Amino acid sequence: MRIEAYAKLNLTLEVFGVRTDGYHALRSFVLPISLSDQLEISIAQALSSDVPYPDDLCLKAARTLRSIGAGTFLTPQTLGANIRVEKRIPAGGGLGGGSADAAATLVALNELWGLMLSRKDLAEVGAQIGSDVPALVHGGPVLMEGRGEKVTPKRCPRLDFVLVNPGVSVSTKEVYAACTARPLDASSATAALEAALAEGNLEKIAAAFVNDLQGPACRLHPEITDAIVSLRTAGALGVSMSGSGSSVFGLVPDAQTAQAIAADLKARGLRAWAVHSLSSDTH
Ligand code: C5P
Repeated sequence: MRIEAYAKLNLTLEVFGVRTDGYHALRSFVLPISLSDQLEISIAQALSSDVPYPDDLCLKAARTLRSIGAGTFLTPQTLGANIRVEKRIPAGGGLGGGSADAAATLVALNELWGLMLSRKDLAEVGAQIGSDVPALVHGGPVLMEGRGEKVTPKRCPRLDFVLVNPGVSVSTKEVYAACTARPLDASSATAALEAALAEGNLEKIAAAFVNDLQGPACRLHPEITDAIVSLRTAGALGVSMSGSGSSVFGLVPDAQTAQAIAADLKARGLRAWAVHSLSSDTH
């Protein structure tokens, strides 16, 4: 089975302090985009994957799902799979690449293994794998809260973006540790974004982008600031960082503008992509 694993942008990422489990409480508007890894998953005797990273979230997802399947009428021996991943999403870039691969693995193996779990069940399994996985299991725009496990489907008009990946790998742990948390009763920046999305006003949408991890990430890696400046100079309506970085995105009026800016930035040696938002019914 072939399946696309779509990257995400965090249009907002509000950080509200440390919970008793050591994770930060978050509020984030998460939007899937048209940049994807391609997974090829087939049933096999054992579990294997060709993901070239030490922290292989596909295998972790498959093992976690297998332990649930093995609790049913299926035996672990019948729950094998071969997972191949063609990587296109830059790793360690705040675009949720590893988490998207894990989410796609859960969706595909649920079908291949005949587990018949709902998306909600799969999102719960995903929460054991990584904070971004439940949001990406859903497949459309969502409001993500808690540590990441609370996911509410949202609507979003088609938006066009240029992405730039400055090529530095950011330690998520380090960036969270350097972040100043908002007071719990702070007014919601994400609510302002949702209002702007409902209105479909690009200037207001761009003005509502916020990422509490951007300041600390830029202090740790000045290359991120350079990428932000390059998108602003190119004329993006609003620019922000995704997740804990290092990728940054700029909102632009249409696909043609996105293509032109991405081509220009690429010609200047930057890693840039023209992408657009996906809704749950566009893929
Ligand atoms: O869950 P995930 O593996 O994606 O998280 C990576 C790291 O990011 C965690 O070990 C933690 O330091 C930080 N994190 C956090 N609060 C969150 C999500 C992640 O502090 N809600």
